[in-house]
Amino acid sequence: MDESKLAEFMGRLVTDMGGAAMVASIIVGEELGLYRAMSDGRPMSADELAAATGCHPRLVLEWLNAQAASGYVEFVDDTYRLPEEQALALAVEDSPVYVAGGVGVLATLFLDKDKQVAAMRGDGAISWGDHHPCLFDGTERFFRPGYKANLVSTWLPAVDGAVAKLESGARVADVGCGHGASTVLLAEAFPASQFFGFDFHGPSIDAARERAAAAGVADRITFTAAAADAYEETGLDLICFFDCLHDMGDPVGAARHAYEALADEGAVLLVEPFAGDRLEDNCNPVGRMYYAASTFICTPNSLSQDVGRALGAQAGEARLREVFAEAGFSSLRRATETPFNLILEARK
Ligand SMILES: C[S@@+](CC[C@H](N)C(=O)[O-])C[C@H]1O[C@@H](n2cnc3c(N)ncnc32)[C@H](O)[C@@H]1O
Repeated sequence: MDESKLAEFMGRLVTDMGGAAMVASIIVGEELGLYRAMSDGRPMSADELAAATGCHPRLVLEWLNAQAASGYVEFVDDTYRLPEEQALALAVEDSPVYVAGGVGVLATLFLDKDKQVAAMRGDGAISWGDHHPCLFDGTERFFRPGYKANLVSTWLPAVDGAVAKLESGARVADVGCGHGASTVLLAEAFPASQFFGFDFHGPSIDAARERAAAAGVADRITFTAAAADAYEETGLDLICFFDCLHDMGDPVGAARHAYEALADEGAVLLVEPFAGDRLEDNCNPVGRMYYAASTFICTPNSLSQDVGRALGAQAGEARLREVFAEAGFSSLRRATETPFNLILEARK
């Protein structure tokens, strides 16, 4: 037994335990508007922040001390200050690095712990809709900043001919659309096109309709509760799967259905969590987070459906290529990538 290795590992575990506790602290701070109240970078006392947010002063002081101990806020002369860089991640909802909304996803892992234990002792299945509702909002808020920063500006231009087609008027499906974050962004950018959002989870489709109405694009999006292998639209120029194919029980069935629904010159835009093909490639901060979340969310959802292929959130390009080849597609190429996503283009 190597004492120094033990000490190093204990240090890592304490860091992780602190991180897990801070996730809860971020979720609460976000909901109460504590970060937003500090977003102008002005130093504040705990009492000032409590007064500004209508919160209990002693608990705000304790919360602030946790933020200071974590390097989220600075502590100088008995006041606390949220630096600009931290504000972008924790207070500015429209920023491309806003994570304070998306960490809400992680609450699911704890709130649904008993279901997870039962699934791991049983058939492995937990359907998407059986999770605590914080998963549905959290997923939307987790992915939306990345879509907002990349989808229209970078990902679509990397798909051959997609932008020109969308500008002139395309028929586009967003399969597994959840709350429709991506569908609404597309509809805002391409008013001449017609969009169809599908998800098998009815409450998510209800929320997506509300998001489209609020954004003023309901006239060009039709949201329908339908499984990925069961929607009726055909002649589609672009079929998108945003961070959802690996969640499906039968991704080959979903891809085959897309093949049938796609116009001859159409393309599939497949966006999946960034991953290499081997575990060794994914032993990094992004892979670690996705493997852990996928144990609780993505993989049990796939196992709850027919076929239960259980790709997991770290499927990697080689496994995704197999899925599209089995479904009959002649090509799948990496159009582009970000640290968090693989962006793939499939053609008939
Ligand atoms: C991780 S979420 C992504 C949602 C959305 N695309 C986004 O990026 O915000 C996965 C979505 O896939 C949906 N889903 C899972 N299996 C499905 C299936 N077989 N058919 C249709 N939707 C499915 C879930 O309901 C969920 O909304």
